[in-house]
Amino acid sequence: MEAAELRVSFGGVKALDGMDFEVHRGEAIGLLGQNGSGKTTLINVLTGLLVPESGFVTFCDQSMLGRKPEEYSRAGVGRVFQSVQVFPRLTLAENLTLMQIGAQGAFKVDRDAVERILDRIGLAIYANEWAQELSYGEQRLLEIGMALAAGWQLIFLDEPTAGLSPMMVDRVSTLLGEVNESGVALVIIEHQTDVVFGLCERVWVMDQGRLLAKGTPDEIQHNEQVLESYLAGTQ
Ligand SMILES: Nc1ncnc2c1ncn2[C@@H]1O[C@H](COP(=O)(O)OP(=O)(O)OP(=O)(O)O)[C@@H](O)[C@H]1O
Ligand SMILES: [Mg+2]
Repeated sequence: MEAAELRVSFGGVKALDGMDFEVHRGEAIGLLGQNGSGKTTLINVLTGLLVPESGFVTFCDQSMLGRKPEEYSRAGVGRVFQSVQVFPRLTLAENLTLMQIGAQGAFKVDRDAVERILDRIGLAIYANEWAQELSYGEQRLLEIGMALAAGWQLIFLDEPTAGLSPMMVDRVSTLLGEVNESGVALVIIEHQTDVVFGLCERVWVMDQGRLLAKGTPDEIQHNEQVLESYLAGTQ
């Protein structure tokens, strides 16, 4: 996916102020930045929830500008929201099945794939429980499973480990690492920088709707501007 010169404003606030972005097939990218720097707004634009005032977005060389979230989804681009969003009164297996049907626009249900995903997210024993019975952290794992069931090749995750216990942070990070290893590209927004530095080969840092810096985790951790404006406050 490639995007350039993205601009979005809310009243007088420039949430995106000429932001560029790109993610290659199978890559894992971390997106950092202070509160209000425009990270969620960027994801909203790159998944079709928000149409920018200017700029362009392409996926696999096709223009995506003006397309709806469901069109992004069918093209292979999806999203895990900041607040957990599962279907509470459907079973885990039904949650996954619904994503298969909804996102792939198909009427064929691949039960084997559903079972494989339940195993992969470590929740097979709860296959027939309602999703609302799961803990918050387990619901996060289910959401990542739902992204897999949708068949997305590029997944944006907005603070996937926020509010989780250290043990759950480990489970979610390990799962994300495995998902990425299997060839799915990830863009991960996080305030827990160790998660991003552990999982991602490239890191982008935003400041006031613009790119402040990009580079490898090592470069970013030693970047003076980043240290001054962002990392000093988080570590
Ligand atoms: N729907 C909206 N209406 C008005 N202002 C908004 C809206 N969405 C975002 N903003 C403003 O745009 C700026 C960027 O917000 P955004 O949510 O993208 O930041 P963020 O980097 O995701 O922050 P956080 O780390 O707190 O989640 C902020 O100043 C925010 O107040
Ligand atoms: Mg946000």
